[in-house]
Amino acid sequence: MDLEHTLEEASRRVDAFRSLVAHIPYEAKGVLTSEMLFLVAAVGNHRPPKIVESGRARGQSTCILGLAFAGVPVVSIERDAHSPDAIVATERCAGLENVELHFGDANVELPARVSAGDIVVIDGPKGWHALKLALTVLAKRRPAAVFVHDCYKGQAERRFLERHVPGAFFSDDARFEAGFAELDGPVFETARREGFESWQPHAFDGRTQASYGPTYACLPWRQGIRYGSVLRRMVVARTISRIRRSFMKRMGE
Ligand SMILES: C[S@@+](CC[C@H](N)C(=O)[O-])C[C@H]1O[C@@H](n2cnc3c(N)ncnc32)[C@H](O)[C@@H]1O
Repeated sequence: MDLEHTLEEASRRVDAFRSLVAHIPYEAKGVLTSEMLFLVAAVGNHRPPKIVESGRARGQSTCILGLAFAGVPVVSIERDAHSPDAIVATERCAGLENVELHFGDANVELPARVSAGDIVVIDGPKGWHALKLALTVLAKRRPAAVFVHDCYKGQAERRFLERHVPGAFFSDDARFEAGFAELDGPVFETARREGFESWQPHAFDGRTQASYGPTYACLPWRQGIRYGSVLRRMVVARTISRIRRSFMKRMGE
């Protein structure tokens, strides 16, 4: 898996993908439609034994995974069983026979469920917690790839992935945006209608951002990479980043 191959596969698959998701209404908190195409294109012709997702909320990613990987078991883990989101996700996924919905903490449940060749999708926990989970799974379970959501440019976590995880690539690539951002029209329309006007391409929470959207990182498993060492380096980077952030806060920035 790499970016060039993903761009080619996305061009080949975009029309079929558009038709596949045309009847799925966008739900709040969900990933961008173009980001799901990125994931589908990156996986390409690899047929994983299963897909394990953590962070389901209202099931936007879960629904699309279930449809796009028909016949492949999709195991979805969500921590919050008491949120109104849980019912929405259950209703939306009701017709998808390959989708299993579970509740639990992905930090515990996910590594236990992943096996070699699987695709892992992490969209909760977030930030350093997500990176720790991703690297733990890469070190212990040999999935084909781990996708981590919310890895946009400017974050310390993103810089860490770019510097220390060989093979990592991202859905906010300018060529991917130019080719496939049009898929997200209905997403931004729904965001506007539901009062999230500040969510636009290259803008979130009233601030402009370098990345097009929240952004998936794709971390393909590679022979010869010592993910345990990368994980230890990540713990150091996380500590430094937290100290820096609290210092900046005290300085009033
Ligand atoms: C942004 S939402 C996920 C959106 C979903 N992927 C979609 O596309 O619709 C994040 C979700 O992650 C869940 N979450 C956070 N930490 C978690 C954990 N440790 N284990 C499982 N789920 C978690 C939250 O409860 C929340 O529902």
